[in-house]
Amino acid sequence: MKKRFHTRQATFRQLEIFHSVAEKSSVTEAAYALHLAQPTVSTQLSRLQQALGLPLFETIGKKMYLTAEGSELLTATSELFATIDRLEMRLAARAGLSLGTLKLGVVTTAKYLIPKALGTFCHKYPDIEPEFQIGNRAEIIERLKQNKDDLYVFSHPPRELEITTQLLTENPLVVVANKEYSKAKHSSISWNDLKDERLLLREQGSGTRFTIEQFLAEFGYPHKSPLTIASNEAIKESVESGLGISILSVYALNHMETDNLVILPVKEFPLANNWYLVTPKGKKQSPVAHSFEQHLFKHLGER
Ligand code: PGA
Repeated sequence: MKKRFHTRQATFRQLEIFHSVAEKSSVTEAAYALHLAQPTVSTQLSRLQQALGLPLFETIGKKMYLTAEGSELLTATSELFATIDRLEMRLAARAGLSLGTLKLGVVTTAKYLIPKALGTFCHKYPDIEPEFQIGNRAEIIERLKQNKDDLYVFSHPPRELEITTQLLTENPLVVVANKEYSKAKHSSISWNDLKDERLLLREQGSGTRFTIEQFLAEFGYPHKSPLTIASNEAIKESVESGLGISILSVYALNHMETDNLVILPVKEFPLANNWYLVTPKGKKQSPVAHSFEQHLFKHLGER
Protein backbone atom coordinates (compact mmCIF):
# COMPACT_ATOMS: atom_id res chain seq x y z
CA MET A 1 0.00 0.00 0.00
CA LYS A 2 1.20 3.45 -0.82
CA LYS A 3 2.52 5.32 2.27
CA ARG A 4 0.69 8.58 2.95
CA PHE A 5 2.56 11.60 4.17
CA HIS A 6 0.57 14.04 6.26
CA THR A 7 2.21 17.13 4.85
CA ARG A 8 -0.95 19.18 5.31
CA GLN A 9 -0.82 18.64 9.03
CA ALA A 10 2.33 20.71 9.15
CA THR A 11 1.59 24.22 10.33
CA PHE A 12 2.88 27.32 8.59
CA ARG A 13 4.93 28.14 11.70
CA GLN A 14 6.54 24.67 11.68
CA LEU A 15 7.50 25.08 8.06
CA GLU A 16 8.97 28.45 8.85
CA ILE A 17 10.99 26.96 11.71
CA PHE A 18 12.14 24.06 9.54
CA HIS A 19 13.17 26.47 6.77
CA SER A 20 15.23 28.56 9.11
CA VAL A 21 16.94 25.56 10.77
CA ALA A 22 17.68 24.04 7.36
CA GLU A 23 19.16 27.26 6.04
CA LYS A 24 21.33 27.80 9.08
CA SER A 25 22.04 24.12 9.87
CA SER A 26 21.53 25.12 13.48
CA VAL A 27 18.66 25.08 15.94
CA THR A 28 20.33 27.75 18.06
CA GLU A 29 20.75 30.19 15.18
CA ALA A 30 17.24 29.56 13.89
CA ALA A 31 15.80 30.17 17.38
CA TYR A 32 17.73 33.42 17.58
CA ALA A 33 16.58 34.55 14.11
CA LEU A 34 12.92 33.69 14.82
CA HIS A 35 12.95 35.17 18.34
CA LEU A 36 11.97 31.81 19.82
CA ALA A 37 13.33 29.75 22.66
CA GLN A 38 15.56 26.90 21.54
CA PRO A 39 13.30 24.15 23.07
CA THR A 40 10.32 25.60 21.18
CA VAL A 41 12.21 25.22 17.91
CA SER A 42 13.26 21.66 18.73
CA THR A 43 9.71 20.70 19.78
CA GLN A 44 8.12 22.14 16.65
CA LEU A 45 10.72 20.46 14.50
CA SER A 46 10.06 17.04 15.99
CA ARG A 47 6.28 17.58 15.67
CA LEU A 48 6.81 18.34 12.03
CA GLN A 49 8.88 15.19 11.58
CA GLN A 50 6.16 13.18 13.32
CA ALA A 51 3.46 14.69 11.13
CA LEU A 52 5.39 13.84 8.02
CA GLY A 53 6.53 10.49 9.36
CA LEU A 54 10.02 11.17 8.02
CA PRO A 55 13.36 12.24 9.44
CA LEU A 56 14.26 15.64 8.06
CA PHE A 57 17.70 16.02 9.64
CA GLU A 58 20.47 13.74 10.74
CA THR A 59 23.19 14.77 13.13
CA ILE A 60 26.71 13.56 12.41
CA GLY A 61 29.23 14.59 15.00
CA LYS A 62 27.80 17.89 16.18
CA LYS A 63 26.62 18.99 12.75
CA MET A 64 23.07 18.85 11.35
CA TYR A 65 22.54 17.59 7.82
CA LEU A 66 19.35 17.49 5.78
CA THR A 67 18.14 14.05 4.78
CA ALA A 68 17.02 13.54 1.16
CA GLU A 69 13.42 14.16 2.30
CA GLY A 70 14.56 17.21 4.23
CA SER A 71 16.09 18.57 1.00
CA GLU A 72 12.81 17.99 -0.82
CA LEU A 73 11.00 19.88 1.89
CA LEU A 74 13.54 22.72 1.75
CA THR A 75 12.91 23.10 -2.00
CA ALA A 76 9.18 23.33 -1.30
CA THR A 77 9.52 25.82 1.58
CA SER A 78 11.90 27.99 -0.48
CA GLU A 79 9.22 28.26 -3.19
CA LEU A 80 6.52 28.85 -0.60
CA PHE A 81 8.35 31.69 1.14
CA ALA A 82 9.39 33.29 -2.15
CA THR A 83 5.69 33.34 -3.09
CA ILE A 84 4.79 34.83 0.29
CA ASP A 85 7.51 37.51 -0.14
CA ARG A 86 6.10 38.45 -3.53
CA LEU A 87 2.62 38.62 -2.05
CA GLU A 88 3.88 40.92 0.71
CA MET A 89 5.50 43.19 -1.84
CA ARG A 90 2.28 43.40 -3.81
CA LEU A 91 0.26 44.10 -0.68
CA ALA A 92 2.72 46.79 0.37
CA ALA A 93 2.43 48.34 -3.06
CA ARG A 94 -1.35 48.29 -2.77
CA ALA A 95 -1.21 49.83 0.67
CA GLY A 96 0.97 52.57 -0.79
CA LEU A 97 -1.48 52.94 -3.64
CA SER A 98 -4.47 53.33 -1.42
CA LEU A 99 -2.93 56.15 0.56
CA GLY A 100 -0.45 57.97 -1.59
CA THR A 101 -0.43 61.23 -3.45
CA LEU A 102 0.38 61.48 -7.11
CA LYS A 103 2.11 64.66 -8.23
CA LEU A 104 2.14 65.40 -11.92
CA GLY A 105 3.82 68.38 -13.56
CA VAL A 106 2.59 68.80 -17.09
CA VAL A 107 3.22 71.41 -19.80
CA THR A 108 0.15 73.41 -20.76
CA THR A 109 -0.58 71.67 -24.02
CA ALA A 110 -0.26 68.20 -22.45
CA LYS A 111 -3.23 69.01 -20.24
CA TYR A 112 -5.27 67.62 -23.14
CA LEU A 113 -3.36 64.34 -23.01
CA ILE A 114 -3.30 63.40 -19.32
CA PRO A 115 -6.72 64.01 -17.65
CA LYS A 116 -8.56 61.06 -19.18
CA ALA A 117 -5.92 58.61 -17.97
CA LEU A 118 -5.81 60.36 -14.61
CA GLY A 119 -9.61 60.11 -14.34
CA THR A 120 -9.72 56.35 -14.87
CA PHE A 121 -6.75 55.90 -12.52
CA CYS A 122 -8.44 57.84 -9.71
CA HIS A 123 -11.61 55.88 -10.30
CA LYS A 124 -9.64 52.68 -9.74
CA TYR A 125 -7.86 54.02 -6.64
CA PRO A 126 -10.32 56.48 -5.11
CA ASP A 127 -8.16 57.27 -2.05
CA ILE A 128 -5.26 58.62 -4.04
CA GLU A 129 -4.80 62.35 -3.95
CA PRO A 130 -3.65 63.62 -7.33
CA GLU A 131 -1.93 66.99 -7.68
CA PHE A 132 -1.92 68.11 -11.27
CA GLN A 133 0.30 71.12 -11.93
CA ILE A 134 0.08 72.80 -15.31
CA GLY A 135 2.53 75.39 -16.57
CA ASN A 136 4.44 76.27 -19.68
CA ARG A 137 7.67 74.47 -20.47
CA ALA A 138 9.86 76.89 -18.53
CA GLU A 139 7.65 76.66 -15.43
CA ILE A 140 7.57 72.87 -15.48
CA ILE A 141 11.36 72.73 -15.96
CA GLU A 142 11.65 74.82 -12.80
CA ARG A 143 9.46 72.34 -10.90
CA LEU A 144 11.57 69.48 -12.24
CA LYS A 145 14.76 71.19 -11.05
CA GLN A 146 13.23 71.52 -7.59
CA ASN A 147 12.11 67.86 -7.58
CA LYS A 148 8.52 68.90 -6.85
CA ASP A 149 6.58 66.20 -8.70
CA ASP A 150 6.63 62.44 -9.31
CA LEU A 151 6.22 62.52 -13.08
CA TYR A 152 6.44 65.19 -15.78
CA VAL A 153 5.19 65.47 -19.33
CA PHE A 154 7.09 67.51 -21.92
CA SER A 155 7.40 67.57 -25.66
CA HIS A 156 10.90 69.02 -25.30
CA PRO A 157 12.45 67.41 -22.25
CA PRO A 158 15.28 69.59 -20.93
CA ARG A 159 18.26 67.55 -22.13
CA GLU A 160 20.64 69.58 -19.98
CA LEU A 161 19.14 68.01 -16.83
CA GLU A 162 19.77 64.49 -15.54
CA ILE A 163 16.48 62.88 -16.55
CA THR A 164 14.95 59.69 -17.85
CA THR A 165 12.56 60.11 -20.78
CA GLN A 166 10.04 57.69 -22.20
CA LEU A 167 8.15 58.32 -25.43
CA LEU A 168 4.40 58.57 -24.83
CA THR A 169 2.92 59.48 -28.19
CA GLU A 170 3.11 61.94 -31.10
CA ASN A 171 2.29 65.61 -30.81
CA PRO A 172 2.30 67.11 -34.32
CA LEU A 173 1.97 70.89 -34.81
CA VAL A 174 -0.10 72.31 -37.65
CA VAL A 175 -0.82 75.74 -39.14
CA VAL A 176 -4.33 77.03 -38.46
CA ALA A 177 -6.31 79.92 -39.95
CA ASN A 178 -9.83 81.32 -39.94
CA LYS A 179 -12.00 79.08 -42.10
CA GLU A 180 -12.74 81.94 -44.51
CA TYR A 181 -9.03 82.53 -45.11
CA SER A 182 -8.43 82.84 -48.85
CA LYS A 183 -5.59 80.32 -49.08
CA ALA A 184 -7.51 77.72 -47.07
CA LYS A 185 -9.01 76.35 -50.30
CA HIS A 186 -5.61 75.74 -51.95
CA SER A 187 -4.59 72.12 -52.18
CA SER A 188 -1.03 72.90 -51.15
CA ILE A 189 0.81 76.02 -50.02
CA SER A 190 4.29 76.64 -48.70
CA TRP A 191 5.38 78.53 -45.59
CA ASN A 192 6.65 81.26 -47.87
CA ASP A 193 3.08 81.92 -49.10
CA LEU A 194 2.17 82.89 -45.52
CA LYS A 195 4.94 85.41 -45.00
CA ASP A 196 2.56 88.39 -44.97
CA GLU A 197 0.26 86.95 -42.33
CA ARG A 198 0.45 87.87 -38.69
CA LEU A 199 1.62 84.92 -36.63
CA LEU A 200 0.04 84.40 -33.22
CA LEU A 201 2.48 82.79 -30.84
CA ARG A 202 2.40 81.37 -27.33
CA GLU A 203 4.38 83.19 -24.63
CA GLN A 204 8.14 82.95 -24.08
CA GLY A 205 8.88 79.77 -22.15
CA SER A 206 6.20 77.80 -23.99
CA GLY A 207 7.34 74.49 -25.50
CA THR A 208 5.07 75.04 -28.50
CA ARG A 209 6.80 78.37 -29.11
CA PHE A 210 10.18 76.68 -28.65
CA THR A 211 9.37 74.24 -31.50
CA ILE A 212 8.01 77.03 -33.70
CA GLU A 213 11.08 79.19 -33.16
CA GLN A 214 13.30 76.29 -34.23
CA PHE A 215 11.22 76.06 -37.41
CA LEU A 216 11.30 79.85 -38.01
CA ALA A 217 15.07 79.92 -37.56
CA GLU A 218 15.30 77.56 -40.52
CA PHE A 219 12.38 78.65 -42.73
CA GLY A 220 12.18 82.36 -41.98
CA TYR A 221 9.96 84.70 -39.98
CA PRO A 222 6.78 86.38 -41.24
CA HIS A 223 7.17 90.07 -42.15
CA LYS A 224 4.60 91.34 -39.65
CA SER A 225 5.69 91.25 -36.05
CA PRO A 226 4.10 88.29 -34.24
CA LEU A 227 1.49 88.63 -31.54
CA THR A 228 2.04 86.83 -28.24
CA ILE A 229 -0.97 85.23 -26.57
CA ALA A 230 -0.36 83.07 -23.50
CA SER A 231 -3.03 80.42 -24.02
CA ASN A 232 -3.92 77.85 -26.68
CA GLU A 233 -7.61 78.59 -26.22
CA ALA A 234 -7.14 82.35 -26.58
CA ILE A 235 -4.99 81.81 -29.68
CA LYS A 236 -7.73 79.68 -31.21
CA GLU A 237 -10.34 82.36 -30.49
CA SER A 238 -8.08 85.02 -31.97
CA VAL A 239 -7.41 83.00 -35.13
CA GLU A 240 -11.15 82.42 -35.52
CA SER A 241 -11.75 86.12 -35.24
CA GLY A 242 -9.27 86.73 -38.07
CA LEU A 243 -6.44 88.24 -36.05
CA GLY A 244 -3.85 86.08 -37.78
CA ILE A 245 -2.66 82.52 -38.30
CA SER A 246 -1.03 80.28 -35.73
CA ILE A 247 0.74 77.00 -35.21
CA LEU A 248 -0.87 74.74 -32.65
CA SER A 249 -0.66 71.19 -31.39
CA VAL A 250 -3.15 68.80 -32.95
CA TYR A 251 -3.83 67.72 -29.37
CA ALA A 252 -4.99 71.18 -28.42
CA LEU A 253 -7.20 71.38 -31.52
CA ASN A 254 -8.77 67.98 -30.91
CA HIS A 255 -10.04 69.24 -27.58
CA MET A 256 -11.53 72.54 -28.73
CA GLU A 257 -14.55 73.63 -30.75
CA THR A 258 -12.90 74.34 -34.09
CA ASP A 259 -15.88 74.94 -36.39
CA ASN A 260 -14.47 78.27 -37.54
CA LEU A 261 -10.91 77.07 -37.95
CA VAL A 262 -9.07 75.26 -40.74
CA ILE A 263 -5.75 73.46 -40.83
CA LEU A 264 -3.79 74.87 -43.75
CA PRO A 265 -2.13 72.40 -46.13
CA VAL A 266 1.37 73.86 -45.66
CA LYS A 267 3.89 71.53 -47.19
CA GLU A 268 6.51 71.98 -44.44
CA PHE A 269 3.94 70.83 -41.86
CA PRO A 270 3.03 69.09 -39.61
CA LEU A 271 6.06 69.72 -37.43
CA ALA A 272 6.99 66.39 -35.90
CA ASN A 273 6.88 66.50 -32.13
CA ASN A 274 6.35 63.94 -29.40
CA TRP A 275 5.13 63.74 -25.84
CA TYR A 276 7.57 62.31 -23.32
CA LEU A 277 7.15 61.13 -19.78
CA VAL A 278 10.05 62.47 -17.75
CA THR A 279 11.47 61.59 -14.32
CA PRO A 280 14.62 62.87 -12.65
CA LYS A 281 17.38 60.26 -12.99
CA GLY A 282 17.73 58.17 -9.83
CA LYS A 283 14.41 59.32 -8.34
CA LYS A 284 12.90 56.55 -6.24
CA GLN A 285 9.41 56.21 -7.59
CA SER A 286 6.47 55.77 -5.22
CA PRO A 287 4.15 52.78 -5.85
CA VAL A 288 1.47 55.28 -6.86
CA ALA A 289 3.66 56.98 -9.46
CA HIS A 290 4.86 53.64 -10.80
CA SER A 291 1.33 52.40 -11.10
CA PHE A 292 0.12 55.58 -12.80
CA GLU A 293 2.97 55.33 -15.30
CA GLN A 294 1.86 51.82 -16.27
CA HIS A 295 -1.75 52.95 -16.39
CA LEU A 296 -0.88 55.86 -18.68
CA PHE A 297 0.97 53.66 -21.17
CA LYS A 298 -1.92 51.20 -21.17
CA HIS A 299 -4.43 54.02 -21.68
CA LEU A 300 -2.46 55.46 -24.61
CA GLY A 301 -2.10 52.01 -26.14
CA GLU A 302 -5.86 51.48 -26.00
CA ARG A 303 -6.89 54.75 -27.65
P1 PGA B 1 3.62 74.45 -23.83
O1 PGA B 1 4.28 73.05 -23.99
O2 PGA B 1 2.25 74.20 -23.38
O3 PGA B 1 4.55 75.09 -22.85
O4 PGA B 1 3.65 75.10 -25.17
C1 PGA B 1 3.98 72.23 -25.01
C2 PGA B 1 5.24 71.61 -25.48
O5 PGA B 1 6.20 71.49 -24.72
O6 PGA B 1 5.23 71.26 -26.67
